[in-house]
Amino acid sequence: MNHLKTWHDLPRRTWDAVLERALHHRKSREWTEGARGKNLGMLFFNPSLRTRTSMELAATQLGAHSTTLVPGQGTWGFAWDDAPMLGEEAEHIEEAVGVLSRYYDALGVRLFASLTDYDADKAEARLEQFIAASSVPVVNMESAFWHPCQEMADAATLADHFGGDLAGKRFVLSWAFHPKALPMAVPNSALMAAARSGMDVVLACPESHLLDEEIVSMAKATGNVSVVHDIDEAIDGADVVYAKAWGGPLAYSDSDHEARIRKELSRWRVTSARMATTRDGIFMHCLPVRRDVVVDSDVLRSSAARHLLQAEYRLHAQKAILEYVWGLL
Ligand code: CP
Repeated sequence: MNHLKTWHDLPRRTWDAVLERALHHRKSREWTEGARGKNLGMLFFNPSLRTRTSMELAATQLGAHSTTLVPGQGTWGFAWDDAPMLGEEAEHIEEAVGVLSRYYDALGVRLFASLTDYDADKAEARLEQFIAASSVPVVNMESAFWHPCQEMADAATLADHFGGDLAGKRFVLSWAFHPKALPMAVPNSALMAAARSGMDVVLACPESHLLDEEIVSMAKATGNVSVVHDIDEAIDGADVVYAKAWGGPLAYSDSDHEARIRKELSRWRVTSARMATTRDGIFMHCLPVRRDVVVDSDVLRSSAARHLLQAEYRLHAQKAILEYVWGLL
């Protein structure tokens, strides 16, 4: 079954085929009937603007039908544990997914990190439980550690901007200040997309906020990846600056300590002055973004900004992803 859990557990040729198809979809902008008769069911356990709308449109533009559900809001609340169901939740996830599998040809699910149980989040315990209950392909629409839909859109944005000539380009994934400790799904995925692209990848973060060490090692084994702990040194000469906030492993092991450290790191922001030190570099962010906290509004309004193109590529990438999961590529 063609699940999309993460890209790195799939063959490289699948990544290449979906990427090429995403670029094709942006160029052609055609609506097809290739997935006519297919039905996509989506469950959003967490909020979304881009993923929800672009997935619905992706299905429509392929001739398919989609339904969006927000568990507990118009559906029963779902229980996940193996325990007598005496609480508010009236339906177990196994029945819910089992039933939906009999109606739909693929299921999309958004299940953010708990930010409390590191091992369970890293093992994608909830996503795995969801997949185990499904008899149809499951698309990860952002899980605890990975966001493959964003990852493909980011790769397509980079391929589009540089015309496929990515070798030797300096890609900086920069940690950014944020009032909250955010999950690591997007930075993990952005790091892997950049590593896979052949660019010179710089992971820039305070020493307190390194990503999971095994994931950084996996990125290093995939491409040319280095780590620096100085934002100015990282951005100087960059071709791409991708900003993202995350709490990191410390947010799980000692959230109070992480919050205290983070409060002192507000200078980790992508400013116009920092962008002026790039090699005519572009700015990327997955959105939503906090203006004048993560990045200067001037940068978002400048000709360097590519965050809206990234968001647009969510649609094209997800059309290609649905074609992949339905065996239509
Ligand atoms: N980048 C992203 O996934 O956006 P949403 O959370 O709005 O879906």
